[in-house]
Amino acid sequence: MGLFITFEGTEGCGKSTQIKLLAERLITLGHRVRILREPGGTPIGEEIRHTLKHSHANAAMTAEAELLLMNASRAQLVREIIRPALAVGDIVLSDRFYDSTTAYQGYGRELELEKVRAVIEFAVGETKPDLTIYLTVSPEISELRRQSRQPTLPLEIQRDRFEEADRKFFERVACGYALIAASEPARIKVIDGAQPVEVVCLSIWEKIAPMLPPPAGC
Ligand code: TMP
Repeated sequence: MGLFITFEGTEGCGKSTQIKLLAERLITLGHRVRILREPGGTPIGEEIRHTLKHSHANAAMTAEAELLLMNASRAQLVREIIRPALAVGDIVLSDRFYDSTTAYQGYGRELELEKVRAVIEFAVGETKPDLTIYLTVSPEISELRRQSRQPTLPLEIQRDRFEEADRKFFERVACGYALIAASEPARIKVIDGAQPVEVVCLSIWEKIAPMLPPPAGC
């Protein structure tokens, strides 16, 4: 079996940079690596991602529809990509997974947590991360990093429905993440994402190295 590692955190916490650095290191060591993102990661999931984030038709989306679309994308990703990849021993790195749903739809949108968990359970079944890296950043850093990235994005994805939410929403999300991390300390490792990139990268490596399977072909 392979290894399933997920990355979590609020906007601008540095997940994508760290996933890229980790993947490069793993590939150099001879591992087979799959990089995924949620929502998305499959052709169906990428269409759902567009609907959730950028489509001009999404302004009236309800929190319930958002929850179900996130998990439709996830159900597809789990069966089309994650399970087959793990079955052949790949290391799967996912930019977000179900903790995002608990944090954003559960705590952020304030949907009933029991129902959110039931939907997630239906979408993922037995497929759970072996390890989750949760990168923390303050709301100020998150906002600054997001604003500096914005003008560099292609025009068609510059509008993002999630980023139109108010400050209170993001505070609830951050609070939710802290509670989720505290409830599963063995799986979720909290790392300060405001530190220099190399320091974060090293902390992540220290958590992952002991769990690595032998490289493919050994
Ligand atoms: P990102 O790929 O730029 O992080 O954008 C994904 C957005 O979707 C981000 O605002 C977090 C949000 N999200 C949820 O609200 N629930 C989820 O389950 C997932 C995977 C993402």
